[in-house]
Amino acid sequence: MRTFAIGFVLASSASLAAQVAQPKMGAPVAGLTPTQRARFDAGRVDFLRVVQPAEGRGPIFNQTSCASCHNNPVGGAGSQFVTRFGFTDGKGNFDPLAALGGSLLQAQAINVACQEVIPAAANTTALRVTPSALGMGLVEAIPDAVIAARETNPPSANVSGRAHWVTPLETPSGPQRVGRFGWKAQVATTLTFSGDAAQNEIGLSNRLVPFDNAPNGNAALLAAWDTVADPEDGPDVNGQHYIDRITDFQRYLAAPPQTPKSGLDGEAIFTAVGCADCHVAAYTTANDPALEPALRNKVIKPYSDFLVHDMGTAADFIEHAPVTGNELRTPSLWGVRNRDPLWHDGRVVGGTLQSRILGSNGIIALHGAFGSEAAPSANAFNALSAGDKQKVVAFLDSLGRAEFDWDGNNALDLADLNAFRVNMGGPFTANSPQAVFDVNQDGYVNYTDLTVFATVYEVDCNNNGTNDLADVLNGTVGDANADLVPDECQFCQPSLGFGGAGSLALSMCGDDLTTANSRGTFQVSGGPANGPLLVAIGVSANPYLITATEYLVPLEPLAALVDYFVLDANGRFRLTIQGGGGLPVHTWVFQAATFTGTAFDLSNALAVSVGGF
Ligand code: HEC
Ligand code: HEC
Repeated sequence: MRTFAIGFVLASSASLAAQVAQPKMGAPVAGLTPTQRARFDAGRVDFLRVVQPAEGRGPIFNQTSCASCHNNPVGGAGSQFVTRFGFTDGKGNFDPLAALGGSLLQAQAINVACQEVIPAAANTTALRVTPSALGMGLVEAIPDAVIAARETNPPSANVSGRAHWVTPLETPSGPQRVGRFGWKAQVATTLTFSGDAAQNEIGLSNRLVPFDNAPNGNAALLAAWDTVADPEDGPDVNGQHYIDRITDFQRYLAAPPQTPKSGLDGEAIFTAVGCADCHVAAYTTANDPALEPALRNKVIKPYSDFLVHDMGTAADFIEHAPVTGNELRTPSLWGVRNRDPLWHDGRVVGGTLQSRILGSNGIIALHGAFGSEAAPSANAFNALSAGDKQKVVAFLDSLGRAEFDWDGNNALDLADLNAFRVNMGGPFTANSPQAVFDVNQDGYVNYTDLTVFATVYEVDCNNNGTNDLADVLNGTVGDANADLVPDECQFCQPSLGFGGAGSLALSMCGDDLTTANSRGTFQVSGGPANGPLLVAIGVSANPYLITATEYLVPLEPLAALVDYFVLDANGRFRLTIQGGGGLPVHTWVFQAATFTGTAFDLSNALAVSVGGF
């Protein structure tokens, strides 16, 4: 007599997901060749690597690696500051005090004797917080003419952005390009930033900037402490320099994800109040055959015009000629939900994204500063209803959110999977919280979306090298309780041991079968392909010695049930066991046996408690 029902597992094999999830913050762009992917990985190692003084770090520097500042995630933004200084006369003329080591302060030194300080002559200082290098290769690939056209044809009478034309260090004889990186749009290419930052932030002279900075301009101090010959960065065995390797990493960094990809009411409001006059949503990268296919002719959504704008009294007052002390480049907003602090000097810090945007000293208030080009849009924003303001914040909160990341912690983990299960259904709109799961944006959170989730889910509880959701959908593990978690990682019935010399193994995992509506997976593995399977179920755990070494457990005193099955091509067998059953809790002993062609092989025995409910 069977006291619990046995039914076959429905093993559904996941069809190849047609939709592709966006890369997470800090991941490489999709579509790299294996060689390019290897260059990304190698460059990431160098981006993280502490450059040693013996290699040329210093004598003055700000930090020891790129990632000591660009750390959220690696390659992204950070909360570290650098200091700029200069002298401003009463007539508004700015002197960067280059002869005294300006305008960038190097705050550290290899020895206190050559430590740089803010010179007494400086009467203007400004902090600059670390911006993000995510999506750099894509931004670099925006054609100059596209950016410059918005200077010639501004989108509204309120704004008058200017393109900052600069000469890349690697092409000193030109042509000039439109700068787009740095708070003053002072750099146009990734390689230039690598050479510039290697020398200015780490103190590593290189082929683009082949000398070290003199501490506060003091050449004698530099000579005394700079013991490594310039340029300090040189070729590796592949002929690549440090600055080339970190350039590979940055160029291949994917754009931050945006979820939902489109359709939020808040974006329409953002555009309507004029934010998008500067924070321009979308570009198509150049269709230039010289570019890697992964970067070429791609639609990207950075939400910036890459022009510099007068931000009035909220500016930094550091001139970067021809960019004035009042002008700052519109920062990209992709990834903004994960950025804290905000603003060029990081003055908007802490709290929630909502408080950073709406707070009394927050982003909107700063855009409304006296003399700011963004004041009309800030005023229009302030006239919105509280509900509409919330919608704009909800839109900003979509910038940097990965698909399926319900709790927004940038990890695709069990909490997100559980939320997926309870939020399946529809119809939903882009404004529904469920939209983070609706990767194909068809209005429904369903199995199709789940197959895409299975390509990016990050938990691997059984450590088999495949994420658990893919395991479940592929049927490589049992999931009798249908919670999308491999049963083998959940409650397992205790094994009594007694296994034979062979590899046949028996397990029953999933729910505790003494609870209501419980299900578990009865699994035999390690048998011969398509071999016979005998399952014995008894009531006592007294071992009965049947060979010199093997004990058959359920036969003592008498097997309650013996059933015959066939193993599959992987030598495996699986059944769903239903718990509960209305009877008092009772313990059954299970054991399996197979015939390997030459011998019988007994599995371990299990003591299975069922009943109760
Ligand atoms: C001490 C902290 C610090 C270190 C170390 C540092 N950076 Fe930066 N990074 C910054 C700051 C601050 C800015 C903004 C500079 C500015 O515009 O004044 C910046 C800007 C950038 C940008 C421009 C991003 C954009 O879109 O505006 C890139 C690219 C970059 N850094 C790359 C690097 C690389 C590569 C290294 C290592 C060689 C490096 N950084 C080391 C702080 C740092
Ligand atoms: C005139 C151009 C312009 C307009 C219009 C504009 N912004 Fe900005 N925005 C900027 C500039 C420039 C900065 C950087 C200023 C600074 O850091 O000193 C900025 C910074 C930001 C930041 C902080 C980004 C960071 O990384 O620190 C957010 C968020 C933002 N803007 C949102 C908005 C919203 C929302 C609106 C509409 C109400 C808006 N902006 C309208 C130019 C503009």
